[in-house]
Amino acid sequence: MSFTWRCPSNIAFVKYWGKKPNQLPCNASLSMILSASYSEVRLELKEKKSKEEIEIDYFFENKKNELFEEKVKRYIEKNRIYFPSVLQFRLRFDSTNSFPHSAGIASSASAFGAIALALLDAEYSLTNKALDTYFYQKASSLARLGSGSASRSILPAFSVWGKVEGFETSSDEFAVPVLEVHKHFQNLKDTILIVDNQPKSVSSTIGHSLMQNHPFASNRFTQANERVKTMIEILRQGDEEQFIHIVESEALTLHAMMMTSNEYYLLMKPNTLQIIEEIWRFRKQTNIPICFTLDAGPNVHIIYPESYQKEVRYFLKNNCNNYKIDSIFDEIGLGPKKMNEIIA
Ligand code: DP6
Repeated sequence: MSFTWRCPSNIAFVKYWGKKPNQLPCNASLSMILSASYSEVRLELKEKKSKEEIEIDYFFENKKNELFEEKVKRYIEKNRIYFPSVLQFRLRFDSTNSFPHSAGIASSASAFGAIALALLDAEYSLTNKALDTYFYQKASSLARLGSGSASRSILPAFSVWGKVEGFETSSDEFAVPVLEVHKHFQNLKDTILIVDNQPKSVSSTIGHSLMQNHPFASNRFTQANERVKTMIEILRQGDEEQFIHIVESEALTLHAMMMTSNEYYLLMKPNTLQIIEEIWRFRKQTNIPICFTLDAGPNVHIIYPESYQKEVRYFLKNNCNNYKIDSIFDEIGLGPKKMNEIIA
C-alpha cells in the first residue's frame, strides 16, 4: 500500500522564533501557505524484515538519505503511539522537492508536513477512518512535532499557530485557519530571490535555542503575540499599509534577535540589503503595495498583490537582477493535496 502527499512550504508574516520543550512555541505566529514550493512524499508499507520496532528507508530524489532517515526514525520513535498500525510494517519513504536542492529554501516545513500527512493517512486507512477535519488538525499537530513551522503547512491560505488571546480555536499544539481575509490579500504573490545557496552558518535549531537566554526574549514574545492579533484584524480589514509595516518589521526583528543573542551572528548578505533598499525605493516611487520578508537566511521573499504582477516583474528584472542568483515565482496556495488512491 502506498500513500502520497504533496505539501507546500509557507512563509511567516509574524515569526516563530524560540521554542519550549515538545516543540511548543514561545509565541504565536501567522503565515501564508505557498503553492509552487512543495515537497512530495510517498510512503510505502512493506513487509517487515526483522523484529525491530521501527524499520525505515528514506530516499530523497531516488538516493538513500541516511541523515534525514535518522531524523525521521527518531521522529517516529518519539511519536510511535500515534502510528500503532503503521508500525506493523517496514516504511519506505520516497521524497522530492519542487524547488532546487541548492536554493537555500527551508524545506523542513514542507517535508515534515508531507511526512505527517502520509503517516497519518496510512494509520487512518489501516483503521478504516475517514479523512475528516479532525484529520487535518491531528496532521498539523504531528507535523509540528517534526518541525514547528510545518504545523502551518497543513492549511490553505493563512494560518495561525500558537494560543492567541481572544481567538478561541487557536492552540500551541496545531495551526488553525484565518477565515476572514479581505480581497486585497486573497491573491498575494511571493517571489523568492535566492541571494545565496550555501548551507546556513547557524541552523534554526540553534537559533531557537539562543532565544532561551536572550536579553530581549520576553519583550519579543509579547510583541509577536500582539502582532498576530493585529495581523488577523489587518487581514480582515484589508489595510495594506499596516500589513507592510508588520511584515517588514517582523523580518528585521527576527534578524535583530540573531544579531543580539549572546552568541551573536548574522545571516543577511550584502545583496539582501541591496534588494531591501531597492524595494523601499520602488515602493516610494510607485506607491505599489510591495514589501519584503526574510526567513532565517539571506534570501528575500517579495510579497505583492497579483494585480501588480507586471510592474513588479519589470522592477525585479531591471533593479534586482544583479543581486540574486535565482528566483522562484510563488503565490498563496490551497494547502496540501493527496496525490493517489491506495493501491492494494
Ligand atoms: C524563521 O520551523 O524551521 O522560519 O521547529 O526547529 O523545525 P524547528 O524550526 P523551524 O523554524 C522556522 C523559523 C522561521 C520563522 C517561521 O517560519 O515562523
